[in-house]
Amino acid sequence: MKRILFVCLGNICRSPAAEGVFRSIARESGLQVEIDSAGTSDWHLGEAPYPPMQQAAHARGYDLSALRARQFRPADFEEFDLIIGMDADNIANMERRRPPDNQTPLCLFTDYAPESGADHVPDPYYTRDFDAALDLIETAARGLAAKLAD
Ligand code: 4NP
Repeated sequence: MKRILFVCLGNICRSPAAEGVFRSIARESGLQVEIDSAGTSDWHLGEAPYPPMQQAAHARGYDLSALRARQFRPADFEEFDLIIGMDADNIANMERRRPPDNQTPLCLFTDYAPESGADHVPDPYYTRDFDAALDLIETAARGLAAKLAD
């Protein structure tokens, strides 16, 4: 079973949304995957996803209410097969914590949504556009599911 970790800054907007959306798409696609999310910061430890993101996700049929924020840790490099960041800062922050000799692939979620032309998932905590973030997250989640089904 492939273990996949989604990572953003706070683990209250983008990565929990990616976790919930991808869990739903993986289930529909019959993919056997283990999915989690984390933040590079410790700013929101133990918090549920940001309420406006929960509401926007709920309107599309995704229930994020049981998720709780945790911080990315070096051991995640050993515990997951693929780690997916939402932007280049997330990737740089994780690379700094990579244990010696570890080769777990780190990539951007937008790598799986080339048709979007986006090179990161804009942070709706700042843009306030939760639907635009979810549109991109759904596109990338479908792309990732297609890749894993290959
Ligand atoms: P996220 O968004 O990285 O998508 O969870 C953020 C949430 C909170 C903050 C920054 C980004 N913050 O500054 O508290």
